[in-house]
Amino acid sequence: MKYSTKDIENILYKYLPIEEGYQRAVIEAMNYSFRAGGKRLRPMIMKLVYDMFAIEEKLDLIGPFMAALEMIHTYSLIHDDLPALDNDLVRRGLPTCHAKYGEDMAILAGDGLLNFAFETASKAFLACPGNVAVEKAFVSLAKRPGIYGMIGGQVLDVAMSGKPLDDEQIDFININKTAALIVCAMEIGGLLGGADETDCENLGHIAKCVGLAFQVQDDILDIIGDEEKLGKPVKSDEKNAKYNYATVHGLEEAKCYVMEMSRKAIMMIKDIKASNEDARQQLMELVNSLINREF
Ligand code: IPE
Ligand code: IPE
Ligand code: MG
Ligand code: MG
Ligand code: MG
Repeated sequence: MKYSTKDIENILYKYLPIEEGYQRAVIEAMNYSFRAGGKRLRPMIMKLVYDMFAIEEKLDLIGPFMAALEMIHTYSLIHDDLPALDNDLVRRGLPTCHAKYGEDMAILAGDGLLNFAFETASKAFLACPGNVAVEKAFVSLAKRPGIYGMIGGQVLDVAMSGKPLDDEQIDFININKTAALIVCAMEIGGLLGGADETDCENLGHIAKCVGLAFQVQDDILDIIGDEEKLGKPVKSDEKNAKYNYATVHGLEEAKCYVMEMSRKAIMMIKDIKASNEDARQQLMELVNSLINREF
């Protein structure tokens, strides 16, 4: 039951577009960034939450959404690395999309992944025609990465570059730019697994804590992480004069915050009534393992 990154990739890779036609250049760039690596955390979380509730595994239902969310996450990274945003040259241990394929193709590859995510998720409609949970999952996939979610957080992150942030602004950035996609992962996993409304609401609270911890740990690693292990440059935030929880409150307080938020999430996962105890354990272990992550 314990999923490795490879197990998750075996599911995801089936949904990648074929590199052919006049648009081949953009599909190559999309697949390059998607296949480059990464922890596959969001689809892994989605699958574990799905497993917690689902009576029977339907990969043709959950698979398209796992792939779709990872496509959206990958697009967000491609655009985040562009010269106009964080201007970074290494991602997932390889040259960033724009460093390899040029800025024009990287912008289009991001656009392509965002759209193809919905084309991919829509395959689940065929697996379960008329299923309301699939409709709700589709709404989550549309909403969480959008202007009231990930993009909204990126907007404040970019707009406040070089300017000090207060706690409310830090929270807004972290809840949206990062936690929103984790909320999306848990929400979709719960919906498709058959969780009830109360469970889905609780999953949202859990995911928010996980997302907040995850971003603050990312900010910590930007200061004290190892570039080799991270697969991306350190000191990117310093270079862009970005304030965040770790730079405003200091490393020690930031580490305590990561611990506190993660413990809170783990306590709440314990309280969810899951039909699959093994999946619940795995999810708690995964959240716990993120506290001291080095990449
Ligand atoms: C990086 O996300 C961007 C953040 C929201 C902090 P990940 O750390 O999950 O990146 P990959 O997918 O493992 O490369
Ligand atoms: C980006 O946050 C989060 C996204 C929505 C892509 P960062 O800019 O801190 O992510 P990294 O450190 O480049 O992965
Ligand atoms: Mg950024
Ligand atoms: Mg960045
Ligand atoms: Mg960062």
